[in-house]
Amino acid sequence: MRTKLVAGNWKLNGSLSSIRELIDGMLAGVDAVKTAGVAVCPPAIYIPEVTAMVKDSKIAVGSQNVCDQDSGAYTGEIAGAMLKEFGCEYAIVGHSERRSLYGEDDAMVAARFAAARRNGLKPILCIGEKLEEREQGVTEDVVSRQIDAVIAVEGISAFADAVIAYEPVWAIGTGKTASPQQAQDVHAFIRGKLAALDAGIAENIIIQYGGSMNAGNAEELLGMPDIDGGLIGGASLKAADFLAICQAAG
Ligand code: 13P
Repeated sequence: MRTKLVAGNWKLNGSLSSIRELIDGMLAGVDAVKTAGVAVCPPAIYIPEVTAMVKDSKIAVGSQNVCDQDSGAYTGEIAGAMLKEFGCEYAIVGHSERRSLYGEDDAMVAARFAAARRNGLKPILCIGEKLEEREQGVTEDVVSRQIDAVIAVEGISAFADAVIAYEPVWAIGTGKTASPQQAQDVHAFIRGKLAALDAGIAENIIIQYGGSMNAGNAEELLGMPDIDGGLIGGASLKAADFLAICQAAG
């Protein structure tokens, strides 16, 4: 039986004082979250501060990306071993902002997914269609292609230690959430696709929803059978809102 996982993706937000306040607020209420896993993904420079603050709690830490390489002349990148050394458990890879704003293609995302795993980090693989792709009716083709790029490099077995986040690009930061049924349909498609290759992995993998999830709509989304948690942007920057989503997850 899979448990739910709610992760906050803070993106490029915060300061030392604001992240301390945010984590303090989360620590004060996180014990009310009974079964769901809770994680935060701060800007990389704050990871040591956050891991130190949450070390005696159930809050896990993840990075927002990881280099495809392990060391060498890759200016501006952070290696998986470095993230691991500072207490990260997860690494987001393939976020749509990385794909669209920084040109990471499917092959690069797959290489970063592989780097996370070989350094003992659980990748949170973000996939999802753009608005025009949904309108063209090719949502399933897009998420299939994004998953296949990883399977081609790492094989289906790699998904035993991974999380998938379905984030329709049109729902990210727009306030326009996918309806529970729209999200459920894609989640079920993803699980079915994995099940055709490995039924056990498909049954156990956490498939999060992301895109304007908030304290008001979380319960309905998380009530769908194939929605196993959330990857939360804006609403993860306020402790009360984020905790409300975590509690809705169980
Ligand atoms: P919002 O929750 O702000 O829409 O962002 C979602 C997201 O991109 C999480 O990775």
